Amino acid sequence: MYTGLMHLHSALRYVILALLIITIIKAFAGWFGKKEYTAGDNKLSLFTFISAHLQLLIGLILYGISPVVKAGMADMAASMKDPIMRFWTVEHMLSMIVAILIITLGRIMSKKAGTDTAKHRRIAVYYLLGLILIFSAIPWPFSAVARPWF
Ligand code: HEM
Repeated sequence: MYTGLMHLHSALRYVILALLIITIIKAFAGWFGKKEYTAGDNKLSLFTFISAHLQLLIGLILYGISPVVKAGMADMAASMKDPIMRFWTVEHMLSMIVAILIITLGRIMSKKAGTDTAKHRRIAVYYLLGLILIFSAIPWPFSAVARPWF
């Protein structure tokens, strides 16, 4: 189960990143172009939100079964001093949860907004913040905590 979930979690990052980028571009275009906030815009932001929450669920399960997290938890004091162990026990999990909270807030705020421009603006700003945080907390092959592309 661990290996399967890791592959799914790893691949789902690209779905989330693609959906976030498309949603953000459309939201900025809607905001600055003063366009109507359509049912399609709402659906797109909803799919992005759902994919982020699915990733959160898989991440939480992985956090419970990961040998790396278990090893890190066994000696938290030592893990906090080791950048790689600190990343897997605290940083990755916390950054991603905060990012998904920001995305969730963006969706709630956009639903509450009174005008179509405000709906686009809230999606654009909150989802962009979420994207930056997610991108920075992914263990890219070129980062210090390097993992494969897939
Ligand atoms: C949008 C959100 C997230 C993205 C894009 C993401 C991305 C990734 C990636 C790319 C990996 C490496 C996979 C590999 O080595 O093949 C990974 C591993 C992992 N992630 Fe996430 N993640 C997200 C959210 C979360 C959350 C919220 C948690 C915990 C609550 C979490 C827990 C973990 C764990 C435990 C591992 C595996 C550590 C190991 O056993 O090696 N992730 N994640």
